[in-house]
Amino acid sequence: MIKRPRRLRKTAQIRNLVHETSLDVSDLIYPMFIIEGETEEISSMPGIKRYSLDDLPKALKEVISAEISAVLFFGIPKNKDENGSGAYEENGIVQQAVRLTKKLYPDLIVITDICLCEYTSHGHCGVLEGNCISNDKTLPLLAKAAVSCARAGADMVAPSDMMDGRIGAIRNALDENGFSDTLIMAYSVKYSSSFYGPFRDAANSAPSFGDRKSYQMDFRNKKEAITETQLDIDEGADIVMVKPGLPYLDILKTTSDTFSVPVAAYHVSGEYSMLKAAAQNGWIDEKAAVLESLTAMKRAGAKMIITYYAPNAAKWIKGE
Ligand code: PBG
Repeated sequence: MIKRPRRLRKTAQIRNLVHETSLDVSDLIYPMFIIEGETEEISSMPGIKRYSLDDLPKALKEVISAEISAVLFFGIPKNKDENGSGAYEENGIVQQAVRLTKKLYPDLIVITDICLCEYTSHGHCGVLEGNCISNDKTLPLLAKAAVSCARAGADMVAPSDMMDGRIGAIRNALDENGFSDTLIMAYSVKYSSSFYGPFRDAANSAPSFGDRKSYQMDFRNKKEAITETQLDIDEGADIVMVKPGLPYLDILKTTSDTFSVPVAAYHVSGEYSMLKAAAQNGWIDEKAAVLESLTAMKRAGAKMIITYYAPNAAKWIKGE
C-alpha cells in the first residue's frame, strides 16, 4: 500500500500539525438578552438569562474574563405597541444597555439586533397593514432603530427583519446622521426556521397570528441565498450572515465561496437547546459536541460564529 491516510492521524502532534480548520476565541460573538425589569432564567435555554440593566455589568465581566471580543444585544421591553416604538426610543432598553456597556468596556464590540418583533404587540418583524407586513412602512422604523443604537455607541448593527431594501435604508440613515463608520452585519440569509423556537420564548416575540414565511426564506431554496446576499452587499452590508448554523452548512459554504465579504454563522437557540438537553441527560459529551459543531461551521466557511455557548466555548478552546 503506497497511500495510507492513517499515517497523518497517528499521534495528536501529527494531527495538530496537519489540521485544516481552527476555532479561535476571537471568532465568537455572544448573544445576550437585556430585559426591562428583573433578571430571569429562560426555561427553554438552561444557562442563558434575560439580564436586567443592574445585573448586566456582572454578566459582562464574565464575558470579558472569557476574552470574548463581541456581544450581540436583544432587548425585551416592558411595553410593546403596534409599531414597535421601543426599538427606536433614545432611551430604549437596548440603547441604555449599549451606553452602559461602552462606558464600562469601550473596546468590547457591541452589536445590536435591529428588528421590530421584540417590540411589537403582534410579534411580527414589521408594521402591519391589515394582516400583511408592510415592507416599505417598516424601513424607516428600522433605520431609526439603527441610528438610535449607533447614537448610543453601538459599533455594529445587525438587521434581522428580512424586509427588502433594509440594508440600503439603514446605510443611508446612518451616513446622513454622521455614523458612516458604524458597521452593518446583515442577516442576509435568514430562513424561516423552527430552530428559533427557544429564542421566541426568551424574547417573548412569537407572532400572535400567522408565521414569518412571507419575509423569512423558504428552507427548500438555495439560490435565493445568493440573491439575498448580493442585494445586501450592494446595499452596503459589511458582514453577511447565514442562519441557522448546523442544518445549513451547504448554504454557508455556498455563501462563503461566492462572496468575498466576511460571513457569520448564527448557531441559533434551538441548536443550543438541543445540545444542552442531550448533555443534561448524559446523552452526549457537551464540550466535544459543541466544539465539533462550531468547528464544522468554520470548516463550511464561517469567519465568525454567534453562539449562546460563547463563554463556555472560549474556556474550552483555551483548555480551561
Ligand atoms: C429577530 C430575531 C430572531 C432571531 C434572531 N433575531 C427570531 C426570529 O426571527 O423569529 C433568532 C435567534 C435564535 O433563535 O437564536 N427577528
